[in-house]
Amino acid sequence: MYGIGAFSRALALHHRFKLGTRYFTAQAASSLKPLCDPSTYSAEEYANIDWNNLGFGHTPTDYMYVTKSTGDGSFEQGKLDRFGNLELSPAAGVLNYGQGLYEGMKAFRRENGGIFLFRPDQNAARMQIGAERLCMPSLTTEHFLDALRQTVLANKRWIPPPGKGSLYIRPMLIGSGPILGLAPAPQYTFLVYVSPVGNYFKEGTAPLNIYVEEEYHRAVHGGAGGVKSITNYAPVMKPITRGKARGFSDVLYLDSVHKRYVEEVSSCNIFIVKGNIISTPVAGATILPGITRKTIIDIARDSGYEVEERLVEVDELCEADEVFCTGTAVGVAPVGSITYKGKRIEYKLGEEHVSKKLGSTLVGIQKGVIEDKRGWVMEIGEQTSWSNSMKAR
Ligand code: COI
Repeated sequence: MYGIGAFSRALALHHRFKLGTRYFTAQAASSLKPLCDPSTYSAEEYANIDWNNLGFGHTPTDYMYVTKSTGDGSFEQGKLDRFGNLELSPAAGVLNYGQGLYEGMKAFRRENGGIFLFRPDQNAARMQIGAERLCMPSLTTEHFLDALRQTVLANKRWIPPPGKGSLYIRPMLIGSGPILGLAPAPQYTFLVYVSPVGNYFKEGTAPLNIYVEEEYHRAVHGGAGGVKSITNYAPVMKPITRGKARGFSDVLYLDSVHKRYVEEVSSCNIFIVKGNIISTPVAGATILPGITRKTIIDIARDSGYEVEERLVEVDELCEADEVFCTGTAVGVAPVGSITYKGKRIEYKLGEEHVSKKLGSTLVGIQKGVIEDKRGWVMEIGEQTSWSNSMKAR
């Protein structure tokens, strides 16, 4: 295990990588030497995995970032550890009472070798809001971003080649201190681990087949559906498992009071298109404020669509021209069919469907082939100063 200082000094380093116009060094302990097949990708730069067949599974990488709360609401500086198991008390707040949050984001590599994050400040802010809801201290935005930068650079060889996928980043904030009575934990751990990923759904980029869940709900008013609490995810496993067993890609939840309004899909937000109007349920109370959701709303408005954030009735699915989902893991995914009360509604997706246009714009901005007018994309390198890049926004 290495502290940050030791990390950057250690074995000083055997590899020097080009990052955009900057150079940085990254640790390569002998046990971590890349084993790549040089006939496909340079052994210096890439881990030895099958980059052509990445799904959305967990691949252990080299390092994870860990820091603990100090008791006064702040966090220690934090350090990179070799990726591995955590030591937790059986009485940890997260294990007993689910006091935990996570974020999902992606780092991607451009053709010129640059490494980029997409709107990471939004994830920092969302984690801070979630922490307040779950009575946890949270990291400053700068600390959060620096943890991302360190983790991504330390695992650089796991970032897929351009066009092959991305490095999924999973920041977590958990009540790690022991607590038996129902109360906030006495200590918190923030960590970041990463995994190279490809498409989230086994369908790849093919249209999804969604099932409208009538028995189970994802969230209730006053609950934690509007923050990225880990407790929002275990309850959807039963409906997803049942939906998948019936051949569906994922499950769409309705509001728990009227069972009439569309909320979100287990892994993503939902949009419906009718003519020039794109509608999506209002995020915040029971619906996660997705960062891809927010981005697509801006891209759609910039592209001349009218976007309405409002109550969306389940019956509107029958009249929609198009339906699509958005999420970090999922991207922008077209829906091919929705099954509700035993009736299957099919959507015909022409060559130029709306979600394809919006999704291509998003990917174009990420790749750098479309101008990033709003400063969403952040390049990371050893010299990155988050406070400066945040001020520049
Ligand atoms: C993400 O899109 O990052 C999520 O957290 C969804 C998760 C089900 C993979």
